[in-house]
Amino acid sequence: MSLKDQLIADRLPSHVAIIMDGNGRWAKKRGNSRVFGHKHGVTAVRDVTEASAELGIKYLTLYAFSTENWSRPKTEVDALMSLLVSTISSETKTLMKNNVRLNAIGCRENLPSGVQKRLEECILKTSGNDGLTLTLALSYSSRWEIIEAVKKVAVQVKDGELELGEINDELFSSLMATESMPDPELMIRTSGEHRISNFLLWQLAYSELYFSDVLWPDFRKEDYYEAILNYQGRERRFGKTGDQIKK
Ligand code: FPP
Repeated sequence: MSLKDQLIADRLPSHVAIIMDGNGRWAKKRGNSRVFGHKHGVTAVRDVTEASAELGIKYLTLYAFSTENWSRPKTEVDALMSLLVSTISSETKTLMKNNVRLNAIGCRENLPSGVQKRLEECILKTSGNDGLTLTLALSYSSRWEIIEAVKKVAVQVKDGELELGEINDELFSSLMATESMPDPELMIRTSGEHRISNFLLWQLAYSELYFSDVLWPDFRKEDYYEAILNYQGRERRFGKTGDQIKK
């Protein structure tokens, strides 16, 4: 039986988050520049997006560019930004065909105006789609997001619009960039690195973490199905005991 056929349809995660890592090493192994790796990473983005849409997963969040990535060499940053512009432009048609809604989280003002423009156009064009929501984390870091949420809470308290007692999990979640999305049940990181790297720290509190040795440009649907199958074999306890969960 194929990996896809082994998936249990009613136990699919509703939200998968992915740290796409290993583009640089993939390129280096082939004697090429890091940018070559990023370009090939787009194929993997296409594959997991298509697989998520086919499976009926509702949310896919991809860590495409972190706040910290701004300190990479300028040539790499510029190439990544151009790649984003060209990919968003060329993929809009496919997103429409697959009923995918594009979304972005992160400090958008820091992105070059060309990226902001293409992003906004694609977000608007796909806004009526109700299949998969594909969120790109761009110029994103979780600590930035948490600090932004804290500032919003502080202003509301200062203005007398919010009591201290009203600050809870639910309120804080609604102030995150992910707003009304459910927390990811599954977080995948490729390339054999075992870190969270400032990604969705609040939202990953109870997520199942899956680490794949595959470098991102080589990550294909089969690798994705393998990650989901592994997730489906886990017992999610949310702090309870195994016996309590089985009841
Ligand atoms: C991490 O690999 C990858 C990135 C920082 C960029 C990810 C971008 C893409 C996959 C291409 C464009 C994406 C979209 C959504 C169109 P790394 O460079 O840190 O690899 P290394 O750890 O091997 O050096």
